[in-house]
Amino acid sequence: MKASQVLLGVNVDHCATLRQARYRTASREAGQAVEPDPVLFALLAERAGADGITMHLREDRRHVSEADVRRARDLISTRLNLEMACTKEMIDFARDLLPDAVCLVPENREEVTTEGGLDVLGQRDRVRAVVEAVLEKGIEPSLFIDPDGAAIEVAVSVGAPVVELHTGAYANAYYGPQRSAELNKLVAAANLAHQGGLVVNLGHGINYTNIAEIMTVPHINELNIGHTLVSRALMTGVEEAVREMKKRMRGLV
Ligand code: PXP
Repeated sequence: MKASQVLLGVNVDHCATLRQARYRTASREAGQAVEPDPVLFALLAERAGADGITMHLREDRRHVSEADVRRARDLISTRLNLEMACTKEMIDFARDLLPDAVCLVPENREEVTTEGGLDVLGQRDRVRAVVEAVLEKGIEPSLFIDPDGAAIEVAVSVGAPVVELHTGAYANAYYGPQRSAELNKLVAAANLAHQGGLVVNLGHGINYTNIAEIMTVPHINELNIGHTLVSRALMTGVEEAVREMKKRMRGLV
């Protein structure tokens, strides 16, 4: 994929995190003061060139709410990617909502954000069942996995068309001695996934600094980026934040 074709999926979860810091118990109907609105963030991101919007509906609903996801489904004009755990409840929710894509992620109650890839080796049958259940409804499933050969083989074997390679270990290693080793893992995993016929997305911990090197990973279809965009948007506004990321993805800054 040429740099000019790599898609930007904007993850708006951390906008919801900020809202929940103050309005954990208030519903949106409680008044216009309930802010910031992650759906408005999504709409502004689209205006600045986002190619898709990602939301993670967690079991405990502590950031994004069902109402957020349903409003996004109604209002956004790009693709909606729903991150979700491999549970019956979430399968039913997705089959009712009909997002364009779902990304299957692990879920630990205590984590602030998703911390590791999905354990596809340990729950192959379960993952296969979710993949089949959403494909049946025309929803494209992707598996959020560590850049690991065995996980990629499982992704191929369960019929997932897309993987999102976890870039968190690379991002954490960026200023340390393991950086190039972690980058090499991403490159090898992207090559392997591509050879296996999978579409390759990347996500987690990608920011305005590491984006240049991330763009050297081959075969990228889409980058899913959240925290750095929400953080930058506090300083510059959403549209400027998204525009600058797009420029960096294209090597223009
Ligand atoms: N991709 C997945 C599967 C995620 O769970 C997240 C959020 O944790 C992201 C991408 C975005 O990560 P970040 O907010 O670090 O950009």
